[in-house]
Amino acid sequence: MAPFVTLATCALNQWALDFEGNLGRIKQSILKAKEAGATLRVGPELEIPGYGCLDHFLETEVYEHSWDSLFSILTDADLHGIIIDVGLPVLHRNCRYNARAIVLDGKILCLRPKIYLANDGNFREMRFFTPWNRPRHVEQYYLPPHVQKQQGRRHVPIGDVVLSTIDTCLAAETCEELFTPNSPHINMGLNGVEIFTNSSGSHHSLRKLDQRIALIQEATRKNGGVYLYSNQLGCDGDRLYYDGCAMIFVNGDIVGQSSQFSLNEVEVITATIDLEEVRAFRATASRGLQAVAAPEYQRIEVDFALARDALDLDVSRTLPRPPRYHLPEEEIALGPACWLWDYLRRSRQAGYFVPLSGGIDSCATATIVYSMCRLVVAALAEGNETVVKDVKRIAVFGDGKLPTTPEELCGQIFYTCYMGMEKQSSKETRERAKALAERIGAYHTDVNIDDVFHSTKNILTQATGFEPKFRVHGGSNTQNLALQNIQARSRMVIAYYFAQELCEVRERPGGGSLLVLGSSNVDECLRGYLTKYDCSSADINPIGSISKVDLKRFIAWAATDFDMLILKDFIEAIPTAELEPITADYVQSDEVDMQMTYAQLSRFGTLRKVNKLGPYGVFLHLQKEWGGEGGMTPREVAHKVKLFFHFFQINRHKQTVATPAYHAESYSPDDHRFDLRPFLYPPAFESWSFRKIDERVEALERRERGGA
Ligand SMILES: *[C@@H]1O[C@H](CO)[C@@H](O)[C@H](O)[C@H]1NC(C)=O
Ligand SMILES: *[C@@H]1O[C@H](CO)[C@@H](O)[C@H](O)[C@H]1NC(C)=O
Repeated sequence: MAPFVTLATCALNQWALDFEGNLGRIKQSILKAKEAGATLRVGPELEIPGYGCLDHFLETEVYEHSWDSLFSILTDADLHGIIIDVGLPVLHRNCRYNARAIVLDGKILCLRPKIYLANDGNFREMRFFTPWNRPRHVEQYYLPPHVQKQQGRRHVPIGDVVLSTIDTCLAAETCEELFTPNSPHINMGLNGVEIFTNSSGSHHSLRKLDQRIALIQEATRKNGGVYLYSNQLGCDGDRLYYDGCAMIFVNGDIVGQSSQFSLNEVEVITATIDLEEVRAFRATASRGLQAVAAPEYQRIEVDFALARDALDLDVSRTLPRPPRYHLPEEEIALGPACWLWDYLRRSRQAGYFVPLSGGIDSCATATIVYSMCRLVVAALAEGNETVVKDVKRIAVFGDGKLPTTPEELCGQIFYTCYMGMEKQSSKETRERAKALAERIGAYHTDVNIDDVFHSTKNILTQATGFEPKFRVHGGSNTQNLALQNIQARSRMVIAYYFAQELCEVRERPGGGSLLVLGSSNVDECLRGYLTKYDCSSADINPIGSISKVDLKRFIAWAATDFDMLILKDFIEAIPTAELEPITADYVQSDEVDMQMTYAQLSRFGTLRKVNKLGPYGVFLHLQKEWGGEGGMTPREVAHKVKLFFHFFQINRHKQTVATPAYHAESYSPDDHRFDLRPFLYPPAFESWSFRKIDERVEALERRERGGA
């Protein structure tokens, strides 16, 4: 009795195609699990090549290299004495599978291919892999020649199997399967599987962690059992941030949870569990009746016991604890910051450059870089090896001493610049930008771009004799826009120029270039309220899928939590592009310009993408939501809806060149991975949808008149 088992799961910061680094982190996690006394270790989905290889999964060599890595794990005697559940892609009868290898003491016990593939949103697993569409079916997998020799056998079982150890029964589930209504764990549990391993490649999305936790909790609350969830962590070469949070559940209770955002490359958590609790939980008559009727799984016999003798060991059971969540504001502070750090160290560049406009968006980008520096300095203070090594390589000014404050680190790797125009940049924005840079310790420059503006403008006049004017000086709309665009685009050119040269100017040893960060938020992108190839064009954008409403909340939070009083000034300022001259009675304002508020844009974004509604559907929905007593009339709602879709459609082409942004929001308009749409639409105002909206408005107005 008292079959206490210690089990381990982990979050690993893998990088797509970094076979050597990935293998090192996998081995480290196995060693850590062994040190903690664990007899089972689970790792993230496809951890050997990294989850985000995308179309590289179509290349055979990725499969060969993955076998090389697995071979290295099999033949490393330090990794023996523990069951290892490790993720890799395998080729079987010329089909590609997303699989788990379950190994013990250098022997492969079986391969478990994924049954349901993730294929929505950011995921396209069906593009690379075949789903193992035959529950409980098992075949023989022919091992590569060198592995045959080492294993002393030609093949191993591949399929939907479960494993019987001397004292319990375990099985692997892989990611998407948890999200499907008919998950494999149900029948497995009825078949007596007591321990489930769940390996995942799940990315961060704002406010979504509770859904994931609820799903897994549900899985073991109904059915009983132990659930080990593992996930990747960090930026593995793409827009996604995998948000760790490895977890261990027993009968629906959490007994272990690793961090969701962290600079640690390897996080292992363990829990000691009394398997009798699972057996007791399942001792109900109704479960028994279902269990005898459930289909049989083929069992792989494993001559190994997971439990240790509780009498000999000073073991005690790990107690349940509540799940840990971050506030959305903290998620914004931490997720993009960790992503930026991975991007910086992995791209081997010298730092980041941000053009500061004095507005809230570039302020948010800068604050996120500052947050990154806070995390890095905290890890330095604890002497964390990888971080120390990376900082020594990136922050190379001065006497080689490590920075001790975030401001000091910012001073070495973060550059800001205010690019004003004499007539239309206000003193306020210029000073706000400077004060922010000073507070966080960034290397700040302040320039005027009037020369570039006038010489560019004059080129047209020299060529044609025509002189465009701003609207406030009597120019047409087109002229007004063209002149704004010169400024906006010049800023991008200057940003890249500075990013390339500033390290040399400051005599950074070895030179180096900076990465330019973009600062357009998700709502502007959606509405297309930006100039193509202006400062929205950059290397990467940490806030490109975060809404203006959330960014404001984040800044308000950071004002207190990061002790940055200056941020209060940014919140109170009216959002403006400052691309038109200021006159006594005219100051450009974003929300007036767009004829809709950021909160309204956020609703449009959600209804369009998450609720999957077209213009007519959005109108029907919003007419209820915004109409009614004291609300908008149907005609007003129709006007806003049409305006939004008109601009969304004519500006969609801007999304095709949008800077790669951290994925955070479920209504992100990212054209490359997440939100696939055409970029040449028929004219909205002549569209069938708009005609249907008009008909509906007229019908509603008729009814209103009739009723009155
Ligand atoms: C593993 O967890 C994920 C949640 O990230 C879930 O979607 C998936 O279905 C789980 N896998 C299995 C096999 O249950
Ligand atoms: C430093 O490393 C330890 C051990 O890996 C980890 O627990 C801790 O969270 C790290 N500290 C920071 C600030 O990242």
